[in-house]
Amino acid sequence: MIEKYFHEKIQKVNAFLYEQIKQKDAPDQLKESMLYSVQAGGKRLRPILLLATMEAFGRDADQGLPVACAIEMVHTYSLIHDDLPAMDDDDLRRGKPTNHKVFGEAMAVLAGDALLTLSFEVVADIKDRNISGQMKADLVTRLARAAGAEGMVGGQSSDLRAEGQTLLPEELENIHLHKTGKLLSFPVEAGALLAGANAGQIEVLSQFSGHLGLAFQIRDDILDVEGDTQRMGKSAGSDINKQKSTYPQLLTMAGAKQKLSYHLLEAKRCLHQLDIQYERLDEITDYIVDRNR
Ligand code: IPE
Ligand code: IPE
Ligand code: MG
Ligand code: MG
Ligand code: MG
Repeated sequence: MIEKYFHEKIQKVNAFLYEQIKQKDAPDQLKESMLYSVQAGGKRLRPILLLATMEAFGRDADQGLPVACAIEMVHTYSLIHDDLPAMDDDDLRRGKPTNHKVFGEAMAVLAGDALLTLSFEVVADIKDRNISGQMKADLVTRLARAAGAEGMVGGQSSDLRAEGQTLLPEELENIHLHKTGKLLSFPVEAGALLAGANAGQIEVLSQFSGHLGLAFQIRDDILDVEGDTQRMGKSAGSDINKQKSTYPQLLTMAGAKQKLSYHLLEAKRCLHQLDIQYERLDEITDYIVDRNR
């Protein structure tokens, strides 16, 4: 059931992403490099979270497609840059050689820059009459905050500084909340805003997505140790090679799994407080915690 749901949403997201990049009046090689990473086949969890949140409020998810694709552009850019030799120095992503391995480092940096910038253009340029100018400005502001120095980029900078260090658990949690949590919270909040949720509902959903984001990165850290390179489409053991600060490294594998269960339970506790059709979000939460890729 969830597979069919994912499949349907992924097709819409892929078509929109392709169209947005293809139509750009830009150098062919840059477009090729952008499309290479976008079309390499990610799970599309962030756009799906946005679309599923809108549906939980009984709204037509198609209205959320541009914002859903904008967050996927930001996420894909973050992966291209995360893999660069100056950062995690990885060779494999989404089952293919990393962007810089194919197009060179300079073009990989630029493809990331172009995807990030395009994400804001896509939101600001929404033509839907049901989405006001004020709403678009609010979404752009929130997307920028989630992506930038107070969000993912800040978290990535702390992640790099923490290599080879032993952190306190709360310091590691803070890194995870920023480098991964913010880009996972954004789609839930944006979906709720687009669906006209009230302030109380948005507050509970943001608690939900906070736990979901932590669970997501803890699972990612666990998979780096226990996962299969082929299935994940990225190299297992990357964190150990780079002496990254991760949950298994800090808390042992058993401790990391316990934390994962805790955040799963808390995420669900928040979700179940809401008087919305949360079943799909519930299934996506289970998927995030159980995933093998
Ligand atoms: C990987 O994210 C990067 C992290 C934030 C841990 P995903 O696991 O969502 O990657 P894709 O989009 O499916 O490739
Ligand atoms: C990266 O975390 C989060 C991003 C902002 C891209 P990781 O470095 O653990 O992601 P993977 O394991 O390379 O996908
Ligand atoms: Mg990294
Ligand atoms: Mg990495
Ligand atoms: Mg990782």
